[in-house]
This record gives sequence, C-alpha cells and structure tokens, in this order.
Amino acid sequence: MKRVVLLGPPGAGKGTQATGIAEKYNIPHISTGDIFRANVKEGTPLGKKAKEYMDQGLLVPDELVCDLVEDRIMQEDCANGYLLDGFPRTLFQAEHFDNFLKSKGQELDSVVDIEVSEDVLLPRLTGRRVCRNCGRPYHVITMPPKVEGVCDVCGGEVYQRADDSEETVLNRFKVYNEQTSPLIEYYTASGKLAPINGEQSQAEVFDEICAKLGD
Ligand code: AP5
Ligand code: MG
Ligand code: ZN
Repeated sequence: MKRVVLLGPPGAGKGTQATGIAEKYNIPHISTGDIFRANVKEGTPLGKKAKEYMDQGLLVPDELVCDLVEDRIMQEDCANGYLLDGFPRTLFQAEHFDNFLKSKGQELDSVVDIEVSEDVLLPRLTGRRVCRNCGRPYHVITMPPKVEGVCDVCGGEVYQRADDSEETVLNRFKVYNEQTSPLIEYYTASGKLAPINGEQSQAEVFDEICAKLGD
C-alpha cells in the first residue's frame, strides 16, 4: 500500500518520475494537470473553465479540483494506493484532502518533494515537449523522442504545452512560490515530507525517491 503525493515546482520532474514510481509500486498515476488537459482537448465544460486559468499559468479554482481528485481515488484501481502528481497545490486543497482521507480512514504515506532551483527549471520547461495522448514528457535537447514529434511509448503526437512559453512559465513560478510552496511546511509538520534533490540525473532522482519510499 502506497499513498504518495509528488510535490515540486513546475518542471521539477514530477511527470518524468511518475511513470517509474507508478510501475514499481503498482499504483495509478493521477495527474490533475493531465486530467485538465484531456478535458481541454475534449472541449468539456470543465476543460473550458480550466483553460482560462491554465493558459495564464494560474491555478484552477480549488472547488473544481478537490471533488475531482477525491472521487478519483475512491475508484477500484486505487485500492492498492495512488500517486498524485500536481495535487494538492494550495493549503486549502491539502486541508480539504486531509479531512477527506480522515473520513475514509486513510492517511498519506509520503509527500515526495522534488527540489530544483528556478534557473535550472526555466530551460527544462521552455524546451519541454509532451505526448498529447499519454502525457509523457520529453525535452528537445536532453530527452528527444526517437522519432521527432512521435511518442516513443504510444506513438501519439509530441507537442509543446500552451503554458510552456517563457512568460507563462515565469508566472507559474510566482504562483508556485505564493500558493504551493507553503505545503512544504505543512507536510513537514505532519512528518510526511521526503525532500529529494531534483538536480541530479533522472535515474539518480528515481533511486533517491525509491530509497525514501521503501519497498
Ligand atoms: P501541471 O501539469 O501539474 O504542471 P506543473 O506543476 O507546472 O508541472 P509540470 O508538469 O510543468 O512539471 P513536472 O514537474 O511534471 O516536470 P516534467 O517531468 O514534465 O499543471 C498545469 C496547470 O494545470 C497548472 O498551472 C494549473 O493551471 C492546473 N492545475 C493542475 N493541478 C492543479 C491543482 N491541483 N489545483 C489547481 N490547478 C491545477 O519535466 C519537465 C522537463 O524537464 C521535461 O522536459 C523533462 O524531460 C525534463 N527533466 C525532468 N527531469 C529531469 C532531470 N532529472 N534532469 C534534466 N531534465 C529533466
Ligand atoms: Mg507534469
Ligand atoms: Zn505517448
């Protein structure tokens, strides 16, 4: 049983690490960003609302996020635990989620905090490409797909996210610093925070995460 949250600034490597962690512990990877992007693509009412915020690098309002995740983790495939990527990211979400978990007799095991400085994050994000179909992240210089524009894993189209322009990225940093970074203190206080040095190779980051999560 592993109930894990992946925390970290934009571009820290949450999505990159998620696949391996989800596989190793046999738990679903639940990315709120991926869920919103899928809704934007489908043109659902939720997607239309979320897009207004995402395109500016702002957070989608809490009331559109909490129920979505809380419903999702009650599904059958989460019986063995789950890996949350990008949720919670405000104090409101964290407290709402803790109350929800308590009401279900559950508790988080660990909050993995991938730490990377902004000067390293900026080129990661402006050079990032992602698969439109499965969400896997690539990078034009450090991690290009084998065939340009095509996902190695699923063959989907590899594209640049609308919020990965330099201007929007700088806004996302600001939003992270103001609204999400307080969670570091919040989860330190509850003894759940596992800080990880995210400025290592992908393999080294993965090993450090697994060492903290245990078997
Ligand atoms: P979301 O999709 O969660 O974006 P984010 O938090 O900004 O994080 P990213 O996905 O940009 O970064 P990542 O850490 O996954 O990095 P990655 O692995 O791709 O959210 C998008 C938007 O949705 C939000 O702005 C908001 O509007 C909305 N939203 C989502 N959740 C919400 C919530 N709970 N509440 C409210 N709104 C919400 O890696 C980045 C790049 O670096 C890649 O190119 C990768 O190849 C490269 N890289 C990764 N690791 C390494 C390494 N070790 N060394 C070198 N390069 C590396
Ligand atoms: Mg991501
Ligand atoms: Zn793919």
